[in-house]
Amino acid sequence: MPTRTRRPALLAAAVTTAAALGAGALALALPAAAADTAAPPIPLVEGTLDWGIKQSFRSYLAQPFSKGRTTVEGGATQAAGNGVFTFVDGTGTYDTSGHGTATAFKGGVHFEAHEGVLDIRISDVRLKTAGSAAPTGEITADVVTKEKDGTFTTRDDVSFAALDMSGVRPGQGAGGAMVFKDIPAKLTEDGAAAFAGFYKAGDALDAATLTVKQGAAPTTPPTTPPTTPPTTPPTT
Ligand code: HEM
Repeated sequence: MPTRTRRPALLAAAVTTAAALGAGALALALPAAAADTAAPPIPLVEGTLDWGIKQSFRSYLAQPFSKGRTTVEGGATQAAGNGVFTFVDGTGTYDTSGHGTATAFKGGVHFEAHEGVLDIRISDVRLKTAGSAAPTGEITADVVTKEKDGTFTTRDDVSFAALDMSGVRPGQGAGGAMVFKDIPAKLTEDGAAAFAGFYKAGDALDAATLTVKQGAAPTTPPTTPPTTPPTTPPTT
């Protein structure tokens, strides 16, 4: 009879549960009891979001005629060869009852072209998944766009990309990380507006890859017994 250790069994159960619930669920090795009770959310740490935003836009800015420039800011990086961006230091939460996730990343990207006519700056990138409620998610961001009349519009925390989690299954990455690879993404209305209307809502964006690790579970503060105030002996 094969020997079974507790941890693989838990992991297997969690992966099965995650698959059954759809991609919004994370493959966290949670004891069933933790998921059944109203447990506090589990912290997510060391997250990264690998996302090129839109490959054709990156290529457009790399064409000589556009005189484009793409600058990563605030800790974000760009892969060689005008590749995808990585937004870093992601922290967030995993909701153990609804299996939704929310992760906020550091870093941004600044696109410039046409001698300053095109100017789009993206920062405060966040990714949310709805969990068992729906096989959906979204990427939100703060976006500052130079409009056609030359004025700048700031859109804070706008829904930029709509995510389809239906075909995405959690996988395992290095160091126990959970990886949601190649999540299909489409531009939203606000996202289209952030590109000054040069794209339309529903246009395909690059697929996004989310990597997160489970942080230390929040500790419940010890319950201290009520202390009786010391009685001062009456002074005589
Ligand atoms: C001097 C002003 C501009 C000129 C001459 C210009 C020219 C062009 C040309 C020729 C294309 C087609 C490129 C191709 O098919 O490879 C294009 C595409 C595009 N332009 Fe501009 N453009 C200007 C300003 C802007 C501005 C201000 C924005 C946004 C804020 C913008 C956003 C776009 C986008 C999103 C595309 C589609 C890129 C793609 O995904 O293929 N452009 N532009």
